[in-house]
Amino acid sequence: MRKKIAAGNWKMNYDLAETEMFLVDLKKQVIPENVEVMIAPAHTNLHHAFTSLRDHPVTVIAQNMNQNESGAFTGEVSAKMLASVGVNTVIIGHSERRAYFNEDNAVLAEKVNTALENNMKVIFCIGEELEDRKNESHFELIETQITEGLFHISNEAWKQVVIAYEPVWAIGTGETASPQQAQEMHEFIRNTIADAYTKEVADGVSILYGGSVKPENAKEIFGQKDVDGGLVGGASMKVDSFMKIINSFS
Ligand code: G3P
Repeated sequence: MRKKIAAGNWKMNYDLAETEMFLVDLKKQVIPENVEVMIAPAHTNLHHAFTSLRDHPVTVIAQNMNQNESGAFTGEVSAKMLASVGVNTVIIGHSERRAYFNEDNAVLAEKVNTALENNMKVIFCIGEELEDRKNESHFELIETQITEGLFHISNEAWKQVVIAYEPVWAIGTGETASPQQAQEMHEFIRNTIADAYTKEVADGVSILYGGSVKPENAKEIFGQKDVDGGLVGGASMKVDSFMKIINSFS
């Protein structure tokens, strides 16, 4: 049975005091048992968040990591460093990493390998630009992103991988993909995995939707057959809206 996941990607927001304010409110909430809830604070706040949520059913995850084990990579963090502050799940390949930090599928495949070698779970992000959808090359692009980024891993390794489909044109824009658009692409992703591996492997992979998920639209999107939850930005940064999204799974 695939896990239902609600993950909050805070991006470059919230200092330590703001993070603590969020955590104090979050710890007052009742987290439903059928949903795996994650938050991805900035790296500087990971240890505090991990320590604060140690006894709460919310997993603290990282927004990124370097593919190297250690070395002269100023400003970067390694898998081992993340593990040392209690983090064992990492987002890899977010569109903002791809766009602003030139992370291509080859680099992202290396990051996936390093994460898996360090026994980390991976949330692997894919998604097309509006131009790709307009010229109907979005399926081809998505297939390339997962093929080049993930299709070197073993059947067993897929148990450590979650995919987040985030159409770039929906991120931060309020232009959410329709439930039908989300389901169509999620089904395509799942079928692409099944063709390259097996139906059993594909059916076990949680595929999250990301891109302007809000309390108002989460229920319909998450209710789609191949949507297993969401990777949420803005709406995850207020406890009340994030809880409405968490509680929108049927
Ligand atoms: O990683 C999730 C993020 O890209 C979505 O952002 O603000 O559109 O929910 P937002």
